[in-house]
Parts: sequence; structure tokens; C-alpha cells
Amino acid sequence: MTNAVFLIFGATGDLARRKLFPAFYSLYRERKLGEKFAVVGLARRSRTNEEFREDVLESIKEFARYNVTKDERWESFADHFEYMSLDINDVNSFRELKALTDRLDEKFDAGGNKLSYLALAPELFGPVSHNLKAGGLLETEGWHRVVIEKPFGYDLKSAEKLNAEIRQVFEEQDIYRIDHYLGKEMVQNINVVRFANAFFEPLWNNKYISNIQITLSETVGVEERGGYYDRSGALRDMGQNHMLQMLAIMAMEPPSRMHPEDIRDEKVKVLRSLRGFESAADVRANTVRGQYSQGTMKGQQVPGYRQEDKVNPESATETYFAARVFVDNFRWAGVPFYIRTGKRLPVKTTEVVVEFKNVPNNVYLSTKHKLEPNLLVFRVNPMEGIYFKMNAKQPGSEGVIVPVAMDFCQSCQVGLNTPEAYERLLYDAARGDSTYFTRWDEVALAWKYVDQIESAWKEGADDLQTYAAGTWGPERGQKLVTQDGFKWWPVNGQDENEVAWEFTQR
Ligand code: BG6
Repeated sequence: MTNAVFLIFGATGDLARRKLFPAFYSLYRERKLGEKFAVVGLARRSRTNEEFREDVLESIKEFARYNVTKDERWESFADHFEYMSLDINDVNSFRELKALTDRLDEKFDAGGNKLSYLALAPELFGPVSHNLKAGGLLETEGWHRVVIEKPFGYDLKSAEKLNAEIRQVFEEQDIYRIDHYLGKEMVQNINVVRFANAFFEPLWNNKYISNIQITLSETVGVEERGGYYDRSGALRDMGQNHMLQMLAIMAMEPPSRMHPEDIRDEKVKVLRSLRGFESAADVRANTVRGQYSQGTMKGQQVPGYRQEDKVNPESATETYFAARVFVDNFRWAGVPFYIRTGKRLPVKTTEVVVEFKNVPNNVYLSTKHKLEPNLLVFRVNPMEGIYFKMNAKQPGSEGVIVPVAMDFCQSCQVGLNTPEAYERLLYDAARGDSTYFTRWDEVALAWKYVDQIESAWKEGADDLQTYAAGTWGPERGQKLVTQDGFKWWPVNGQDENEVAWEFTQR
């Protein structure tokens, strides 16, 4: 049931424009939203309803999966949208908002349900939650949920404070913390592939898997977000959330039921089993951080990180990090999980690679040939698919063994038009399905892990390496893997627009 009044705080911001309005439109077009809903855009700046609807239209034209024209269908969609200029710190403003939502609730028969989407800076989460309550907005019959964007805190301490402020008003079960990676089709597919196939789960352990690699590489620099990013860095921006979440999904035990809380319980167990660090030296031995310097991307010179807008020219913030992570439990003992992410790397891609152990090397085939290990690869972004790399005889040859790929290219079949993560997540929050949102204990454990790394890094920046924009990060990032006798599996293709399926093209 998605009947609700949606309150979009930060409605004139980038997230609303790029992701939320287009998501509403797709859900509407696909008849998932129905007609019993209203969207109230809220921000400080003054705007008429008409102007606001024009903004929404423009954002849909630019970013939505569906084309839009100003016809009857558009009019009936736009009719659900209203705007109110709001002073976040003024409870009277919230009383006015209450009157508006009561009216819209009645007009659209929304059942008193309310979803507040806080597309705002985290320091405003507390005041907004408080005023939603003080303004009487949470008194109506029906459910009251809040959706919160990242970053959820800066470290464990600030996250705890933030959480306490929100919890004064909302129950945990009504708090939907967004990690947009959990809304991605292929991330959701990991569990399905693992648990719905007879041939993966029996091999999913340290007996058969030698290592797991998670790469989340980006070609962009910090764009206009220098101010935020310089305080955050790659580890907080991507590691604490997207990467540890993907790792937890790869490593978790099968839940007893496919119920949100059971799934989240299993992820929590993984996060609790992450091996901590014994000392700053231990952190440095298992992590690498880097910062991009000037370089060339697609034949164009691009500036170094320290030359970017709103970045401290002497900044020691990392734009790349890699880590060797261990999950100390029965299933994963001794299996390294290598994770890496960075900006201004050569390719935009997110891939999870499972490398299997080699067949025993005393058998005929492997003594005579150098066999490549079997790989199972989840391609998350921007191409979506799964492929399995195995060894087979080269047709027509005298027993030459070559790696071949069995691949399922999802984006080749359905195009890159699969629902956006935000569509899914907005829909799930409206339906009350919290499976793909992060629960507080997950967030806290992830911060606890990340804080250990941050505090060792803080002792001095002498381990910060630079890498030229357009390269695969610092040399030490390669060594982290090669010193264990492995290598980073190449992500396919050289260019984000030209992603080649390396193995299938042989
Ligand atoms: C965000 C980070 O969470 O994820 C950004 O704050 C990053 O720095 C983005 O660019 C990447 O998301 P995607 O979906 O484009 O891989």
C-alpha cells in the first residue's frame, strides 16, 4: 500500500531533481503509486505550485527513464504535487505544513500515512524530526516513516548522536536509512544467485574460494562536492556504507526466512566478525590510501584533487582506498576480501569477483597447463550481469586449455533501463519493506570498523600515496593483492561507454 503524503525536505536540491522526482514519475507510469498520494516539496526558497511543477517537469525530462510530454497524463501526475516554503527551525512553519498535509490527505485519500524524505544535511535531521512532532504532523492515524540520506554521521560518535536525536521521535522500524547501492538490481541479485542455485552455496566457503574482490571505481573527480568530500574521503564516502554492505551480503549466512529483520541480522553477524586491527601499523599493512594528481582522462588533462574547487590545497584526504579485510568466522577463516574504490580511475564500474581455488595441481591437466582460476563475477554498475569464467578446451586445438565465459548480460537483454535504485527504494519505503535499508546496528558496526582505520591514518599522512588521474591508483594498492599471490581481476573495457566483455570476446 503506497497511499501517503510524501514530504520532500530539500525539494530544490540536486538529489530531488536528479533522483526523486524521476523516481516518482516512473513509479506513477508503472502504476505502482496509484492515485492516492500527494508530494509536498519543501525548501526555504519561495515558489508557487506552478513553478514547482515546472521544476519537476524539467527534472523528469532530463533524468527520467520515461519520456514526458505536457499532456493529460502529465497534468494528472502534476496535480499530486504542491510546494511550500518552510523554515526548518520554526515550529509554526510545521503547523502550517500540518494544515496543508491534512488537506492533501483528504483530497487524495492518503489514509493519514506520511513519509518524510530528508534530502538534507545530516545536522538538520534532528531539528526536522523534532519539529515534525512538535508541529503535530505525526499525530494522524496511519504510519509515519522517515527516509534519511547518507552520510549518517562522520564517525561512530556523531552517528550515535544523530541516531539518538531521530530516535526521540521515530521508532527504529520507521527509520529508513538509504544506501542506494542496496537498491541496485545486481546487488539485490547476489542473494538470489547465492541462495537459489544448487551449485554455488556448497562452494561458498574457505574450502573452495581463495579470495573475493570488490571494486567500485569511478572516472569522475569530486565534481562540485569538494567541500563535503574533503572532510569525508573515499573510506567514509564509499567504504563505510556501499562497500561494507556488499561485503556483508557476499559473506552472510542464508537467513532462516527472507524477512527484512532476518536478512539484516545475518549482515550484522558478518560486520561483527570483521577482524579488527591490532595497531596503527596493522592498519597500514592492510590498507592503502591514495589521492589523485593531475592526469589525463579520455585524452583530456584533468586537475589533481588539491586543485579542485573547495578542496584544501594541502589536503591529505584520500580519493582512493583499498583494504584487505578478513571475516573471522567458520565459513571465511583465512579468505581475504579485497576492496578498493577510487575517483578518477580509468573505468566506471562496480564488480564483485569471487575467485575459486585451483584444482589440485598434481592432476594431469594442471601440471601440463597453467590453468586460470574459476571466477564468478557480479557486474553491478553500469553494466549489469553475471559471468562465470571457467576452463575449456580450445575448439580444434590439441588440448589447449583456454578460459571461456558463461555470461548473463542483463543490461544487454533489458537495456540499461532497469529501474533506478531510488525508484526501488522509494517504493519499498512506501510499502514498509525495510530489507534494503540499513538498520542502526549495521551502521554502528560499520563505523566502528572504519573508525579504527581513520584513527590510524590520522597519526600521520606519510602513507598517503598519489596516483595520476586516469590510472588504477597507487602501486601499493596492487601490492596489497599481489603479495598474497593474487592479482586484481581486471575490470573489463577501457572506457565507461565501451565496456567489452573481455572473456566472451576471445
Ligand atoms: C555516493 C557517493 O554515495 O555514491 C559518491 O557519495 C559516488 O561520491 C556515488 O560518486 C557513486 O554511486 P553510483 O551509483 O554512481 O556508483
